[in-house]
Amino acid sequence: MKNWAEIDLNRVPEIIVEPPGPKSVEYHRRASRYMKGYSSQVRLFPVAFEKGQGITLTDVDGNTYLDFSSGIYVTSLGHCHPKVSEAVAKYARTLMNCHDFTTPIKTSLLEKLVSVLPEGLNGVQLYDSGTTAVEAGLRAMRAVTGNFEFISFYRDFHGKTMAAASCAGVDKTQGMRAPGFFLVPRAYCYRCAFRLSYPECELHCVDFLELAINNLTTGRLAGIVLEPIQGWAGSIVPPDGWLQKIRQVCAQHRMLLMADEVLTCMGRTGKMLAMEHWNTVPDIVTLGKSFGNGFPVTAMVIAEQYKDALEKISASTSYGGNPMACAAALASLEVIEEENLCEHAAALGEYMLSLLKEMQTRHPLIGEVRGKGCLLGIELVKDRKTKEPDEQAGQMVYQKAFKKGLAWVPAGHILRLSPPIIMSKQAAAKGLSIVEEAIWETEKELGYLS
Ligand SMILES: Cc1ncc(COP(=O)(O)O)c(C=O)c1O
Repeated sequence: MKNWAEIDLNRVPEIIVEPPGPKSVEYHRRASRYMKGYSSQVRLFPVAFEKGQGITLTDVDGNTYLDFSSGIYVTSLGHCHPKVSEAVAKYARTLMNCHDFTTPIKTSLLEKLVSVLPEGLNGVQLYDSGTTAVEAGLRAMRAVTGNFEFISFYRDFHGKTMAAASCAGVDKTQGMRAPGFFLVPRAYCYRCAFRLSYPECELHCVDFLELAINNLTTGRLAGIVLEPIQGWAGSIVPPDGWLQKIRQVCAQHRMLLMADEVLTCMGRTGKMLAMEHWNTVPDIVTLGKSFGNGFPVTAMVIAEQYKDALEKISASTSYGGNPMACAAALASLEVIEEENLCEHAAALGEYMLSLLKEMQTRHPLIGEVRGKGCLLGIELVKDRKTKEPDEQAGQMVYQKAFKKGLAWVPAGHILRLSPPIIMSKQAAAKGLSIVEEAIWETEKELGYLS
């Protein structure tokens, strides 16, 4: 970790007023008169933040937290990385927007981006949210294949607009998914939908795709959309072979594979793309979150042989590829390389996972720990045999650890850990010790230890 983000672990976290403190409560009360629909991250701990620096966040009451969330997998290089902040500030003073005209900074970003991606992924469109990049990917898949149907997976998340949302679970508030979108079970080995065990299952879940294609679709498939590692669903890593086998299914059916790497890209999992863990190159990849380290900049990138189809789906948007966005993304990519952050994230993740595995042996509440790089999860269960999820425990552990100064992310009975990838092992260990304290207390209160 570079000096700019070093912290005194004797002073972080520093809780001087029990959070959410009075100022947080008041700001949140005023904001919530107008703003509705908060995430569970906020609903369960409505603190108001004022400042972020490196791996710490400070609230309006003066409490300083260790950051295990990176916003929501966004500020992976730490809050306000000086190089990224300086790059954005420069263009905020020079040129904020000129539609989709070429600018020197955009040219530099495109060249840099293509140089860090697997060979052949080199048709780029720039957007301003993960969702719009996913939508562009879906449009591109239709434009390339002339087909219109998509397959995606249970509990994947791809965004909140109609088509992106149709690639994921819907509920009655959202209504029906758009026609042509079909979902199938995903390789979630801890809770296999087919009640099989890996590797004896020989990846039956992928074989099931054939049945789904024959029975659900008309055969006019544009392709498969997936998260290489599930983020929102709780840091669920697929077993080896799953992605490779899906790649083969795509080839057999002459359809495209889109990897939605909005959450997993740019070092988060210890590689530039999570797909690299399985040596699999998709036809299309979407990038977001860490790509601009906090500045809203995202991309949809397509393989060379399909690049021409992009002419059919115009790339221009109001904000996509604006000079500030390009500067943020370019600076972030440079930082990842200069500071060897992919390697660091991989090593840090392995270290954290080893601590989590030890922790699991001490706690009946922990059903599974898992992850890759700095994308980790803890699944809490009422009983290790039945694996019944314990949502109440999930909430309690989340809130207790937050009160002790750990800013992080809940997901029902699953706790999500996504520290900035610049974090030191010592800081990570400190964060995990807070998690464990919160688990002890929760187990005691819920009677797990009696
Ligand atoms: C895998 C994935 N795709 C797409 C999105 C949507 O991105 P955004 O919230 O930037 O629109 C998200 C957001 O969490 C995501 O995790």
